[in-house]
Amino acid sequence: MLVSAKEMLNKAKAGHYAVGQFNINNLEWTKSILATAQELNSPVILGVSEGAGKYMTGYKTVVGMVNGMLEEMKITVPVALHLDHGSYEGCLKCVEAGFSSIMFDGSHYAIDENVAKTKELVKIAHDKGMSIEAEVGAIGGEEDGVIGKGECADPQECKSIADLGVDMLAAGIGNIHGKYPENWEGLSFDTLDAIQKLTGDMPLVLHGGTGIPEDMIKKAISLGVAKINVNTECQLSFAAATRKYVEAGKDLEGKGFDPRKLLAPGAEAIKATVKEKMELFGSVGKA
Ligand code: 13P
Repeated sequence: MLVSAKEMLNKAKAGHYAVGQFNINNLEWTKSILATAQELNSPVILGVSEGAGKYMTGYKTVVGMVNGMLEEMKITVPVALHLDHGSYEGCLKCVEAGFSSIMFDGSHYAIDENVAKTKELVKIAHDKGMSIEAEVGAIGGEEDGVIGKGECADPQECKSIADLGVDMLAAGIGNIHGKYPENWEGLSFDTLDAIQKLTGDMPLVLHGGTGIPEDMIKKAISLGVAKINVNTECQLSFAAATRKYVEAGKDLEGKGFDPRKLLAPGAEAIKATVKEKMELFGSVGKA
């Protein structure tokens, strides 16, 4: 059964480790992530972006697939199904569809509007026993080939949002989605420290978990990060393994094109990536 992310994240914050959010895009990714979490006895959060939700034909399909896998694969570790960077409408759809957690990304609104919308969604989510993540300070990313330092959130604004009763808070601390550029200035630990001081026990979320050096990940966890999101790194390992398989001409052997065989090396590669991250985040054995 899917669970809210609240309990697993509160435990992680208190125990000084982080739970990984791994984004899912299809059946293979989901199966690999769940199998690895079960094997390592680790809690896990499956992240679904609005685009990935559409790709999989809609949130109800995602809920059906994940619930089916939990049963068929006999998954006993805590698993949360979480909307990643949701719009207001997207959040409502996921509440209806049976997700167990949502993220409302109101970081592009003025702070007052972010507060108002987040407040409404906190009530809706909590009435259903779901957890909710909010965001302050946009997480950067590549725009027109230029990647600068990700935005840093204002700690006071983080406190205003945390005080609304959200279960986890994503705050920009110079992190960006995707690969980090060579001239990246690194995470702003001063900002993180100031945010943690004002938000207390609130589990903090680090987006853009791909390619952050290990020492920075560990320091971020020591300063209150209890959830780390990873997507691009799974894409990279999946793509590399698939390319290797195709370049070896294996997809042309025998019956030609068997999608189960074609996607198997990528699925194995995702397992290895997820394992590496769970070990780094310290969530192994914490289910
Ligand atoms: P990466 O793609 O950089 O791993 O970031 C994932 C993420 O933060 C999803 O919200």
